[in-house]
Amino acid sequence: MIRIQENVQLKPFNTFGIPANARYFVSIQAVDDLFELQQADIFKNEVRLILGGGSNVLFTHDIDGLVIHNNLKGIQVSHETDETITLKVASGEVWHTFVMHCVQHNWGGIENLSLIPGTVGAAPMQNIGAYGVEVQEVIEKVEGIELLSGSVQVFDKAGCRFGYRESIFKQELKEKNFISSVTLTLTKKNHLLRTGYGAIQDTLREMNVTAPTIQSVSEAVIHIRSKKLPDPRVLGNAGSFFKNPTITQQHYVSLKSEWPTMPGYSSENQSVKVPAAWLIEQCGWKGKRLAGAGVHQHQPLVIVNYEHATGEEILSLAMQVRASVKERFDITLTPEVNII
Ligand code: FAD
Ligand code: EPU
Repeated sequence: MIRIQENVQLKPFNTFGIPANARYFVSIQAVDDLFELQQADIFKNEVRLILGGGSNVLFTHDIDGLVIHNNLKGIQVSHETDETITLKVASGEVWHTFVMHCVQHNWGGIENLSLIPGTVGAAPMQNIGAYGVEVQEVIEKVEGIELLSGSVQVFDKAGCRFGYRESIFKQELKEKNFISSVTLTLTKKNHLLRTGYGAIQDTLREMNVTAPTIQSVSEAVIHIRSKKLPDPRVLGNAGSFFKNPTITQQHYVSLKSEWPTMPGYSSENQSVKVPAAWLIEQCGWKGKRLAGAGVHQHQPLVIVNYEHATGEEILSLAMQVRASVKERFDITLTPEVNII
């Protein structure tokens, strides 16, 4: 039985810690709750916003509509062989708790994605990635409920149209499809460990690990992340505010002649991916603070809520950062965070 609450404060439901009021708020505990919700007038008449852990959203105003908060729980084994295990995971499970469950069982494939906040259901939304791994690599299918019709939709990997921090769910299906479960296949033996990322290698060395395991890679990632990224419980943030941009080879060569230390990594179609953190730092923003909002002192791609910042203040700072990067490098940064 669903209960639609009125005037709910969303500050505890977003990792930026931004105060915003939801006119209506409903917690979804079972898939049937969604079907029940579809019959409600409030559902039919109001603007809708799906919310997981709130770790990739920026509220810039109150929500004059219905917030649908995902609390679907449960992990089922849907297939198992000697080599692999396929799990169907309810979308409201906490991603990092799920990763720890897999690491403890010695199931491989997502250990590099340890400590990413949020829910399992939001993972395919932007194809979460870190330390050389993207979640798309292990995803078999994503199940969703089309909000207006109530029909169940199943997306195989190709249907998810994954890209770098992208998917069909972040584009044309945004707020149209409630992701209800994610099915992924992990290895039980012959694990493909990804330790190529420089920081992982250095950390494993510091840990005196000569034969890495799923557990030690996960530990290394947790160690790196805890040092580099601000803990949202201490300093509000939503991870990287912008995506790392890709530019043409020509543009890169011309910038490199002026900025010889500019890093760049070859990407698809002969383009070059440039770290946004570097661009932002060169523009002098690292560690800068404007009112309650700031550019993080260790990771300039992360914008933080130092103290009582509003969503507009965070956004205004982000747009000033973006304007400087555009002016100096002629590169337009695209927000990764979902601005609401
Ligand atoms: P929310 O913020 O609640 O929602 C994000 C978007 O997804 C919204 O548009 C929402 O409407 C939609 N959505 C959520 N659930 C559903 C659903 N069930 N069905 C349909 N739509 C849905 N991301 C990375 O990729 N890599 C990182 O390394 C990383 N590091 C981070 C570090 C920190 C400290 C923080 C705060 C964030 C980081 N992030 C990172 C971003 C964030 O953790 C991920 O994007 C995460 O998947 C968001 O999950 P969420 O449940 O909090 O989503
Ligand atoms: N850099 C600087 N100055 C700094 C920090 C970094 O110039 O102060 C430059 C360096 O050249 C460094 C490069 O930026 O090598 C990359 O930095 P880092 O390894 O910290 O990674 P990132 O590109 O900033 C990306 C993801 C993160 C993910 C990490 C690890 C995006 C938008 N961000 O950050 O994801 O955890 O790599 O793989 O792709 C997120 O999406 O929210 C997120 C945190």
